[in-house]
Amino acid sequence: MTQVKILAQSAEPHPLTDLLNRAFGPGRLARTAERLREGNQRIAAYDRMAIDNDGALMGAISFWPVRVEQTAGLLLGPLAVHPDMQGQGVGQALMQDALAAIDEARFAFTVLVGDLPYYQKAEFSVAPRALQLPGPVDPQRLLLRGEAKLCAALSGMVRRAPELC
Ligand SMILES: CC(C)(COP(=O)(O)OP(=O)(O)OC[C@H]1O[C@@H](n2cnc3c(N)ncnc32)[C@H](O)[C@@H]1OP(=O)(O)O)[C@@H](O)C(=O)NCCC(=O)NCCS
Repeated sequence: MTQVKILAQSAEPHPLTDLLNRAFGPGRLARTAERLREGNQRIAAYDRMAIDNDGALMGAISFWPVRVEQTAGLLLGPLAVHPDMQGQGVGQALMQDALAAIDEARFAFTVLVGDLPYYQKAEFSVAPRALQLPGPVDPQRLLLRGEAKLCAALSGMVRRAPELC
């Protein structure tokens, strides 16, 4: 059976692009969350990658600095697992490993666009309706993780914050 290892490292650009294209298919760069990644920079310390026995890239996750008013946080994504390895716990392992490393004094919340049933295992819940992204998003898929009171009070536009890198 293929063994997968989680590493606290950034994937190389080419294998990463290949993985994202396979996992998401065409149109991934048109999604609203992409507007927060353009002109922004990943927080490399929170990059995680999953590799198989041969060192091939099987999964990856990244986080990007954002702000809501003066509150700094992170955008999670993309999270992608190679189609051959899906459903074997790799996605949750990548996410849990990275989330455990986040400095919550520096980044008070994590936001993403995704399916609640998957992300609630990592303590995400539906964001308050007052929170907005720079583009259309199904409010039931706008998810937030962080201290409950702080999350409930978040209101306004999520903006990219490359100055926080
Ligand atoms: C979504 C994704 C990252 C999950 O990674 P994974 O390694 O396959 O997931 P895990 O093995 O950790 O978890 C599997 C479990 O999550 C469930 N699951 C997977 N995707 C789900 C989804 N979108 N909604 C709800 N549950 C989901 C599976 O049914 C499985 O449930 P089980 O444990 O009860 O059997 C992966 O399928 C993927 O890369 N998909 C394509 C890209 C994508 O959609 N990324 C997320 C964008 S928000």
